[in-house]
Amino acid sequence: MDTIVPADAIARLKSVVGPKGVVEGADAEPYFHEQRGLYRGAALAVLRPAATEEVAQLVAICAEARLPVYPQGGNTGLSGGAVAGKDGVLINLGRMNRVRALDALNFTITAEAGCVLAELQRAAEAADRLFPLSLGAEGSCQIGGNLSTNAGGINVLRYGNARELALGLEVVLPDGRVWNGLRGLRKNNTGYDLKQLFIGAEGTLGVITAATLKLFPRPREVETALVGLKRVEDVMELFARARAATGDQLTGFELIPRIGIDNVVQHGQGFHDPLAARHPWYALVEISTSRSGANLRAALEALLAVAMAANLVQDGTIAESEAQRRELWRIRAGVAELQEKLGGSIKHDVSVPVSKVAEFIVRGSTAVGARLPGIRPYPFGHVGDGNIHFNLMQPAGADKSVYLKRWAEFNRIVHDIVVSLGGSISAEHGIGLMRRDELAHYAAPLELEMMRRVKAALDPDGIMNPGKVL
Ligand code: FAD
Ligand code: LAC
Ligand code: ZN
Repeated sequence: MDTIVPADAIARLKSVVGPKGVVEGADAEPYFHEQRGLYRGAALAVLRPAATEEVAQLVAICAEARLPVYPQGGNTGLSGGAVAGKDGVLINLGRMNRVRALDALNFTITAEAGCVLAELQRAAEAADRLFPLSLGAEGSCQIGGNLSTNAGGINVLRYGNARELALGLEVVLPDGRVWNGLRGLRKNNTGYDLKQLFIGAEGTLGVITAATLKLFPRPREVETALVGLKRVEDVMELFARARAATGDQLTGFELIPRIGIDNVVQHGQGFHDPLAARHPWYALVEISTSRSGANLRAALEALLAVAMAANLVQDGTIAESEAQRRELWRIRAGVAELQEKLGGSIKHDVSVPVSKVAEFIVRGSTAVGARLPGIRPYPFGHVGDGNIHFNLMQPAGADKSVYLKRWAEFNRIVHDIVVSLGGSISAEHGIGLMRRDELAHYAAPLELEMMRRVKAALDPDGIMNPGKVL
């Protein structure tokens, strides 16, 4: 939309946050950068408020002037949700990074939206508690962004995604009023659960300014193994056995394909092939317990011994120290971070029932290979909760830009299979700009209608992150 900006609106906005909260010129560049390089942001102003009251004043001015508001957290999102438009105002929450309260007995923490995820984890740890949300971007993503995208990551299997960790929210509504829903209650049945509307809304219904979140007892024992397997079906069979054999202490279960190991060894710093021989598939398995003396190590060894005897697991290594454990997780992170070393990569962040993961990967790989011989499927991720990052690398030596023009074509092939298996075309990264057309294509008309009605009810002028999700 073309907005006629009232002459004094921008000056009023800047005066709300003061000089420390205004970002201009070259300093604004990082706020316009998008992780995947698919979009470029812009804005009439980049503002960094320091308190909820400032956010409320900013949004009220924008509402009055009908200026679009683009909320942004750590700007690590992978679907283009935090890309601002030149017609509006980018509100970055980074200065609102205080932990407001930690109630150790209630196992809750209340933090401002701009609190970086790793800082939140550290605050919990300092109180001998665990905040379990964990993902590759945790050093820079913010809890407000995590909630707005309903982020997942590596511990969902055990602790749930961001939605399941939230007990209460504080939100600035699109008219500038503040909703204080910061309750630390496990039980609360007082009408509609309003916080759920804002979680996963990707900034389209309001600006989250604070949250009360669940904490857990800290793990006392953690055991981690990387194993090599022949078939992806074997990986999922190992998953089922691991859950049962470890007394449901399984915390993480990640899939890594051989192409991912080759990629980190070739393009990363200081990586070695983790096992003596090459294997088509790898699983990173982590079990943990908050009980001391549980001897998880014996449980893990027994699991792997039985799986090897059954010819399910071909080889494996168990971390002997925290340093070795970190090294195994560094391989997993490298598999994600070094993807672009293989050229153009068409992304899918899908989920299917865990029982369909292997079938999906086999069918998906066959279908895309039939359409484009030489295409390199690179499926990895949190298969223990049914989430596969089914990314497709260009054929070696192909023209990257020609390949990337086929993004929508491959999305359709892959997403059709996902839907036929009862899955979701957007597991944890959100819809943003990247999957908006796919959502419109696959969602039932009644679902879309209900979403549009919610949007219209809360944001009748459509100023909150316009163009995203719907
Ligand atoms: P941003 O990118 O700034 O914003 C994301 C969306 O939320 C946008 O729509 C924005 O408008 C909105 N938003 C942000 N803050 C607010 C707020 N306070 N109020 C309202 N709306 C807001 N994601 C996973 O789920 N699992 C993973 O394992 C994972 N691994 C990753 C690994 C790497 C290396 C990278 C770069 C990203 C990864 N991500 C992962 C994606 C990303 O980190 C998450 O989506 C994260 O939750 C985004 O948080 P953010 O603060 O960076 O949000
Ligand atoms: C990961 C990101 C891509 O799982 O979600 O590494
Ligand atoms: Zn992921």
